[in-house]
Amino acid sequence: EKGGYEHFMLKEIFEQPRSILDSMRGRMIAESNHLMMAGIREFENKFANANRIIIVACGTSWHAGLVAEYLIEDLARIPVEVEYASEFRYRNPIINEKDIVIAISQSGETADTLAALELAKSKGATIFGICNVVGSSIARATDAGAYTHAGPEIGVASTKAFTAQVTVLTLIAMIIGSRRGTLETTKLHELMVELETIPAKVEETLKLNEQIVEIAEQYKDASNCIYLGRGYNFPVALEGALKLKEISYIHAEGYPAAEMKHGPIALIDEQMPVVVIATKDSSYEKIVSNVQEVKARKGKIIAVVTEGDTTIPAMADHVIEIPETSEHLVPLLSVIPLQLLSYHIAVMRGCNVDQPRNLAKSVTVE
Ligand code: M6R
Repeated sequence: EKGGYEHFMLKEIFEQPRSILDSMRGRMIAESNHLMMAGIREFENKFANANRIIIVACGTSWHAGLVAEYLIEDLARIPVEVEYASEFRYRNPIINEKDIVIAISQSGETADTLAALELAKSKGATIFGICNVVGSSIARATDAGAYTHAGPEIGVASTKAFTAQVTVLTLIAMIIGSRRGTLETTKLHELMVELETIPAKVEETLKLNEQIVEIAEQYKDASNCIYLGRGYNFPVALEGALKLKEISYIHAEGYPAAEMKHGPIALIDEQMPVVVIATKDSSYEKIVSNVQEVKARKGKIIAVVTEGDTTIPAMADHVIEIPETSEHLVPLLSVIPLQLLSYHIAVMRGCNVDQPRNLAKSVTVE
């Protein structure tokens, strides 16, 4: 059942070229400019005219929501708020009929997410669901939705569900953007072509596995770890940190790299591993200076960079090169080495990676 892999988590990490493809299947064909999602079709007008989009979710699904905030605001120019479902539901939030609420949940059973969408529904908002489990409670409670089609995810640490969520959210941002005219046809087409190359690029990225085992060897005994990213890679930094802490029990924090100087930089010394996601995108020059700031304080840099980069590798202690892609799609690649790094560290520490202590696959109590 684990398909020859030692753990479900590893199997699910390696399934991603396929699961990402499955999440796009039938929804997008670049060559014929086909871009359509059955679930959103009758709501396209609503989406296009929405005052704002509120995303509610927990954990890794919340991180996918943060990626969607960058995507939707940039491509479709609709204001997006990303909310922890547990906070949103108890805050007496301001919501009305012109709002669209997107609930993201792998299991479709997360109690706080379900309650948050019920609340939004009672205020008249249109509720859209992005779930992996077909027929789940959240999927049934929504007005419309899209399944991620990642297949069953058994490992408690979410991996392929995250990349499938991000893929579906990318398609949604592209659909609304083209409908609103904020995403011009040539740009849209370029993105579609690029998105189609992602499964093959994930396959390439997975070849880094052996190299990541070596890095894991060196940091398996760390007691803390910091993850930094900017722009589209900021949510990836949060996700990398969550993956490490939940399965290896190493204390890890993710930050937008520029926030470092507002406090966390005090933690940096020669013992502190700092994972920096620094791909060639619009934040690149800025993150180069953040890497310099860490090096000046003798932190150990594990850098995820774009193939062919020379500036960051000249400063970093370890370099993980991933294929080049559009910055809109980079989380689909940059998260992969972070999943592998936490997996290998957890295995080396003797942790139960598929069923970490104190955690359940679906959190059906608040
Ligand atoms: O099933 P959901 O997507 O609603 O679950 C949300 C979180 O409980 C979940 O992502 C959790 O954070 C994972 N263990 C992360 O790997």
